[in-house]
Amino acid sequence: KKVVLAYSGGLDTSVILKWLQDTYQCEVVTFTADLGQGEELEPAREKAKKFGVKEIYIDDLREEFVRDFVFPMFRANTVYEGEYLLGTSIARPLIAKRLIDIANETGADAISHGATGKGNDQVRFELGAYALKPGVKVIAPWREWDLLSREKLLAYAEQHGIPVEMKHKQGGSPYSMDANLLHISYEGRHLENPAAEAEEDMWRWTVSPEKAPDAAEYLDVEYERGDIVALNGKRLKAHEVLAELNRLGGKHGIGRLDLVENRYVGMKSRGCYETPGGTIMLKAHRAIESITLDREVAHLKDDLMPRYASLIYNGYWWSPERIAVQTLIDHTQLNVNGWVRLKLYKGNVIVVGRDSKTDSLFDSTIATFEDDAGAYDQKDAGGFIKLNALRMRIAANLHNKKK
Ligand code: ARG
Ligand code: SIN
Repeated sequence: KKVVLAYSGGLDTSVILKWLQDTYQCEVVTFTADLGQGEELEPAREKAKKFGVKEIYIDDLREEFVRDFVFPMFRANTVYEGEYLLGTSIARPLIAKRLIDIANETGADAISHGATGKGNDQVRFELGAYALKPGVKVIAPWREWDLLSREKLLAYAEQHGIPVEMKHKQGGSPYSMDANLLHISYEGRHLENPAAEAEEDMWRWTVSPEKAPDAAEYLDVEYERGDIVALNGKRLKAHEVLAELNRLGGKHGIGRLDLVENRYVGMKSRGCYETPGGTIMLKAHRAIESITLDREVAHLKDDLMPRYASLIYNGYWWSPERIAVQTLIDHTQLNVNGWVRLKLYKGNVIVVGRDSKTDSLFDSTIATFEDDAGAYDQKDAGGFIKLNALRMRIAANLHNKKK
């Protein structure tokens, strides 16, 4: 009877809006989120009104997105399949949560979204929705309708008076794109041949490293409990931190990625990503952890990280296991306080210094190559090595006897 639609205002979700009204005879509530994708959102309100939508939600979720989703993920140095910084994956659980909040506020019993039946996003939206509202109904038009080609979609739009200029929403880009404060992604069209290099004019957020400034730029990053709280001495909110890092990274050609990844549904897919701020954050966070974390704690985090990355990629943000791992990660971050100095230069993020007034485990009296005045007794190392060699010596003796 009432359905909340994740509505971007673009052609696809406008067709979905009309299709829901016609097919299900239901009232549609639209929800449009500002996640820092850098697009005007007011046009979405005007379009929704034209379709007779009475309840229109347009929410600025930028701070919540970075503070409660992006930052917690970066505390774990999370990377999927060694490369992907999960820019789209981490936004979906927040959208799922808002869809359900709005469903509860407006008395809707269903949600709907514009993700196709081939991808990860459908899984992320729907796992999130079911976890937060077990009885919710889900309508995924791409899995139901027969508008499976671009032509059919455009024909439907024309028939129903949906302005087709909307197809130029993303500046006429031929790619399937998704953007938020953490990244912008490109899939489809020219990229469907993984052997072919992406065209230079596809990239929107970063200059190519070749065109980046010849002078390096220094950047000071300050951490509290594993999160960045200040840049170059200036305290900023979470979403301001990421916006500023994107600006700096983009200017220096940092954070481009061209990747073939494994989708949860089983297929391989080729995508290109720009994650300038995230690429800087990952490097800086590892640097501050290098002096503030115990070795075994750091290695335990590294063991868990790929699991945690898969949980987020596959849509399990709201699962009990993700929350359990997060609790462990957050506990490790209590001592992750201090600063890191970076140099940004032609696509590179170079760490040049780090320190922590309160939490550094780095002991120069022990580590020094000079006289350490008895802080470390080198004789101890002989026994340490011999005992660690014991089982290998026993095995080698046995082996030699058998010869
Ligand atoms: N392949 C990436 C992921 O699964 C990006 C998906 C982009 N989504 C989109 N609707 N264009 O996270
Ligand atoms: C989609 O299929 O809607 C986008 C790609 C993805 O979700 O993986």
